Amino acid sequence: MMYPVNEKQHLTIDGVDAVELAQTYGTPLAVYDVSLIRKTMRAFKRIFEKENVPYVVSYAGKAFATKAIYQVAAQENIHADVVSGGELYTAIKAGFPTTYLSFNGNNKSYEELLMAVKNGVGTIIVDNFLELQLLSEIAAEQNIVQDILLRISPGISAHTHEFISTGQQDSKFGFDLQTGQAKRAYEIAINDVNFHLRGLHAHIGSQIFDVTGFEKNAALLADTAYLWGWQPEVINTGGGFGIRYTDEDQPLPESEFADAIIHVLKEKSVQYNWQMPEIWIEPGRSIVGPAGQTLYTVGSRKDIPGIRSYLAVDGGMGDNIRPALYQANYEAILANQPNANAEEVVRVAGKYCESGDVLVWQESLPATKPGDILSVLATGAYGYAMASNYNRNPRPAVVFVENGQHQVVVERETFEHLISLDQDYTLGDK
Ligand code: LLP
Repeated sequence: MMYPVNEKQHLTIDGVDAVELAQTYGTPLAVYDVSLIRKTMRAFKRIFEKENVPYVVSYAGKAFATKAIYQVAAQENIHADVVSGGELYTAIKAGFPTTYLSFNGNNKSYEELLMAVKNGVGTIIVDNFLELQLLSEIAAEQNIVQDILLRISPGISAHTHEFISTGQQDSKFGFDLQTGQAKRAYEIAINDVNFHLRGLHAHIGSQIFDVTGFEKNAALLADTAYLWGWQPEVINTGGGFGIRYTDEDQPLPESEFADAIIHVLKEKSVQYNWQMPEIWIEPGRSIVGPAGQTLYTVGSRKDIPGIRSYLAVDGGMGDNIRPALYQANYEAILANQPNANAEEVVRVAGKYCESGDVLVWQESLPATKPGDILSVLATGAYGYAMASNYNRNPRPAVVFVENGQHQVVVERETFEHLISLDQDYTLGDK
């Protein structure tokens, strides 16, 4: 693999020198290639346009939710899905058109639902009976008819990590299909004058490499609606399209997933004599994951002869918890010399006080020295989004790069930010 470099042999990201970015903004630094994000968003849309079917591509904001990414999504005219009041607030403050928002989540509060309705969120994806009741009351009070989808727990297990698999029957998400809860929810929703029930939603999991789960899911949603004697306007099959982190991952092009879903729903529409439903997908990881990388500065190392070498960098589980949480694998390259020959195998560790604080379990790298810039690749999804202040480390800055230009879209946290909500304890003085 040859990485793009400039005349200094430094890694470039969409035309910008990665080492200069590190010098300008400091490390750890989350960097996004916005050209690649746009390309992926457009590629998703093109698949449906080519097949001439009605569709909605909705960016799952949980993968990376900042004002800037919602603004890019809005520029690309795609929808977005939010899963909390905080994500909703971010999208609203970004100026994202709220009619293009959907709202997922298994325990949305009254306040969150009210905020969504008041701000004109296009679609609420109702997860449970309490939400049906709360949302109906809110819509009535606000004197609107709310567009909704029902989230179904489809009972399909996708082959992925247990913690990110959501479609199996034993799941906290959605109305259970097998035990008749989904049918009951449908009857409530379709007869409620405060709702316009547009369709069904089911998400089977994340980082999936195989189309069969998506085919089964699409077929199941269509068959379920048909069984209920109902023609849905929308079938939403969620997100979950796998991406490449290392050579172990062999993702399909996004077109294969979408084509498989389109194919199934075309067949079902003919079979049931339906008008083609709108097909909704909610990709998160596949849109922002490959476009993001995190730059770190190399610091100390520890060589344990015959066992392992640890190379420590200035970030870690606070900016990317995925290796610690899911045993996730990544690749790292030396940004100041990405195409140099590998000379040693190391484990890239962070600076957090925890043994599991690893960024890359095993990587072949050229010889490194303190001050070198290391880039961990494909960190764009669920990296910054899951960042924490563990050990009171400030969260990194985020920079967007596009066609040779760069801009900070999230400032680096300072120590001052870290204590900004802390209060001095005074009761003990008495
Ligand atoms: N739609 C729904 C309803 C979801 O629950 C999810 C992800 C998505 C869409 C987007 O899935 P994606 O296309 O990004 O795979 N933190 C974990 C991933 C959790 C995914 C949760 N739901 C990780 O870092 O792997």
